[in-house]
Amino acid sequence: MTKRTKFRMIFVSTVYILLRPASTWPHQGHHHDKDLKPGATTPQIQKKDPTGMISVREDYRQRVEPIFKKNCMDCHSAQTHYPWYYKIPGIKQMIDSDISEARGHLDFSEGYPFKSHATPLEDLDAIAESVQKGTMPPFSYRLMHTSLALTDGEKKTILDWAEKSKLLIK
Ligand code: HEC
Repeated sequence: MTKRTKFRMIFVSTVYILLRPASTWPHQGHHHDKDLKPGATTPQIQKKDPTGMISVREDYRQRVEPIFKKNCMDCHSAQTHYPWYYKIPGIKQMIDSDISEARGHLDFSEGYPFKSHATPLEDLDAIAESVQKGTMPPFSYRLMHTSLALTDGEKKTILDWAEKSKLLIK
C-alpha cells in the first residue's frame, strides 16, 4: 500500500464517521436520563399514566372522595341516604327529582373520572365553580341539613385538587 492510498483511506473513513447521523454515534452510557430537562416527567411515569388520569383518580380517592361522600353523594350518586324529612308528603317528590337531576349532571358513584355529560376537564371546572360560588349543596338542603355545608378547609381541599388535576390530565 502506498503512502498516498493509506492517506486516502484514512481521510475517507474519517469523513464517513463524521457524516454519520447522530443517532448511530456510540452511546455515552448514562446520557439518556441526564438529558431530561428539569420538570420533565420520567419515561416510566409517562408509560404507566400517559393521560395523568390515574394519579388524579388516586388523589381524588384519598383527599376529596371522603368530603363528597359526606356532602354531595346523597344527590350525586347511587348511594342515597334519605333524610328523615324524605317521608314528608311533597318533599319526597322534590328530593327524587333533585336526585335524578343531580345524577344526570354528575354522578360521583364510581370515582374520577365521573359519569357526566361533560368532559373530565369540564367537570373539574364546574366543581371548582360550584364550590367557589357556594352553590353546592343547594341552599334549600343546607337549610334543612346544616351539616351538609362545606367547611373552609373542605373547600380548600376540593379547589386544590381541581386546580392540580387540571394541569395533570391531558
Ligand atoms: C341535595 C342535593 C344535592 C347535593 C347534596 C349536591 N348537589 Fe350538586 N347538584 C344538585 C342538582 C339538583 C344539580 C342540577 C341542577 C343545578 O345545576 O342546580 C346539581 C348540579 C351540580 C353540578 C353541575 C353544575 C353544572 O354546571 O352542570 C356540580 C358541579 C355539582 N352539583 C357539584 C356538587 C358538589 C361538589 C356537591 C357537594 C359539595 C354537591 N353538588 C351536592 C343537587 C345536589
